[in-house]
Amino acid sequence: MKFTTALTALFVGAVTQLVSAAPAVAPVEDKRDVWDPKMTYPHAGVVWKYGQKHNVTWETADQPKQITNSNGFILLRSEDDETPVLLAWNFDVRVGYVEVTVPPVLTGQNYSLVLFGDSGNWGDQFTIEGPITL
Ligand SMILES: *[C@@H]1O[C@H](CO)[C@@H](O)[C@H](O)[C@H]1NC(C)=O
Ligand SMILES: *[C@@H]1O[C@H](CO)[C@@H](O)[C@H](O)[C@H]1NC(C)=O
Repeated sequence: MKFTTALTALFVGAVTQLVSAAPAVAPVEDKRDVWDPKMTYPHAGVVWKYGQKHNVTWETADQPKQITNSNGFILLRSEDDETPVLLAWNFDVRVGYVEVTVPPVLTGQNYSLVLFGDSGNWGDQFTIEGPITL
C-alpha cells in the first residue's frame, strides 16, 4: 500500500513536471508566427477595371523569421455579402506582392481584398468598374 502510494506520487510528480515544462517552450514560437501583413495596394481611392492586371502589394519588413505557412491566397470581397472571389493562390506571402487579373464583377465602390497566409488581413475599400453596373 505504501509502496503503491509512493509510486503514484512519483508518477504524479513526473507528469506535473512535464506539464509545467511544456508551456515554457511553445508560446515563444507561437508569438513569432503571428503576422498581419499590411496591404499597401490597392488602397482607398483606387479604381480597377475588369480585365486589367495589377500587383497587390503588402509590407514585408515586419515579417517573422519563421512562418509556419508561407502559402498565401487572396479573396475579393464586396460588402453585399456575395460569395468571395478567389483572386490569387499558391504564392509566397514573404515576397510582398502577387499579380492578379481583375475579374468581371458588378461595378461597385465597396470592394476589398483579404490576404491570407499565416494570418488574415483586410485591405482598404476600393472601386471596381465591371462590365455591368446595376
Ligand atoms: C508586378 O511586379 C512584377 C515585379 O516587379 C513585374 O514584373 C510585373 O510587371 C508587375 N505587374 C504589373 C501588372 O504591374
Ligand atoms: C462605400 O463606398 C462609398 C464610396 O467610397 C462610401 O461613401 C461608403 O461609405 C461605402 N460604404 C460603406 C458601408 O463603407
